[in-house]
Amino acid sequence: LREMDPVHYVHFPDGQRGWLVTGYEDGAAVLKDARFIKDYSKLYGGSMGEMSVFTQNMLFSDPPDHKRLRGLAQKAFTPKMISGMRGRIQELTDELLDGLEGKGTVDLIDEFAFPLPIIVICEILGVPSEDRDKFRLWSNSMIEGTSGEIGVSVYQHMNQFIQYLGQWFQQVRENPDDDLISKLIEAEEEGDRLSEKELYGLVSLLIIAGHETTVNLIGNTVLALMANPEQQEMLRQEPERVPQAIEESLRFNGPVEFSTSRWASEDMDFRGKKIHRGDVVVVALNAANHDPAKFDEPERFDPSREKNPHLAFGMGIHFCLGAPLARLEGEIAISSLLSRFADIRLAVDESELAWRPGMIVRGVKELP
Ligand code: HEM
Repeated sequence: LREMDPVHYVHFPDGQRGWLVTGYEDGAAVLKDARFIKDYSKLYGGSMGEMSVFTQNMLFSDPPDHKRLRGLAQKAFTPKMISGMRGRIQELTDELLDGLEGKGTVDLIDEFAFPLPIIVICEILGVPSEDRDKFRLWSNSMIEGTSGEIGVSVYQHMNQFIQYLGQWFQQVRENPDDDLISKLIEAEEEGDRLSEKELYGLVSLLIIAGHETTVNLIGNTVLALMANPEQQEMLRQEPERVPQAIEESLRFNGPVEFSTSRWASEDMDFRGKKIHRGDVVVVALNAANHDPAKFDEPERFDPSREKNPHLAFGMGIHFCLGAPLARLEGEIAISSLLSRFADIRLAVDESELAWRPGMIVRGVKELP
């Protein structure tokens, strides 16, 4: 598709119709082009918030709201703030790896790749990490579009999530602390910087993004290293190259398959196609990251790749806010795993691994 029709009109699995962009240059152009907007209520009337509080956040907003909402969370995610967390992330990693010692076969997703980023995001926000199984259930349900529980709908999970947040916000209001959530609630109470719905939207976005992405970065990187033992050996010899390997893993098997939807705000000619006002446009990030016009030998996992301007974190104003955190967690997780365990092997055949359903995340369900 990328070769034959890189900007292609499709029927998406969720019933929408629109444009799927698979080439690198085209994809990057969409992500940077302000004519493709996120808040479709501007085109169709109503408001995004009427649909769900889960869309009242920066990822579904355009300027100027986008800047205001991103600004409220930005301070907690600057590279400086994040590098200050190195020691704590290393400590958590070591504790989790202690638990794997001598166990034989383990599910690396369940016992390592999943808990690490969750505990970290819970600590940043100030949410009790004991409740992480609930967050996992709710956020998986929303991302995969199925609750995974008989007789329970995704909407029920969304409601449980909202109720949980409401109770938690109340507790924080009564006992504020120095954490991000207390600062956000303070901004909400001041009234003009963050509405109540936006508070729910922002916090749920951070929880969901923290749950669905870095887990797959760790899992997909381990998988690539299992399939490429010589590269694994190289990293064992030269651990300083792990950050570069993380970038290659993001390119090779990025945890987020597709960008979120954008809507054309006007009729336009785009790369030879007539795109109409109101059309949906989605960028296939992983397809773009395998575009041979941009990357030499794109199907090769090559942690020594010098230039790696992948789109795994998106591009433009919605570039991933959590990128410095995800990169640091990925680096510490992989370096520590390699330095602690001299012999790591898949306990099943790679072909037996099940990939998570849905269009958004790319990662295995279990990694034995
Ligand atoms: C946005 C990927 C980790 C928070 C994005 C986007 C991508 C992405 C592709 C842009 C989507 C679009 O433009 O349609 C990833 C990947 C991650 C990761 C691959 C891990 C390897 C995280 C983490 C957090 C986070 C750990 C925070 C806890 C966000 C937020 C946005 C975002 C808040 C919206 C930014 C905006 O709209 O301005 N991420 N993400 N992400 N990500 Fe991440």
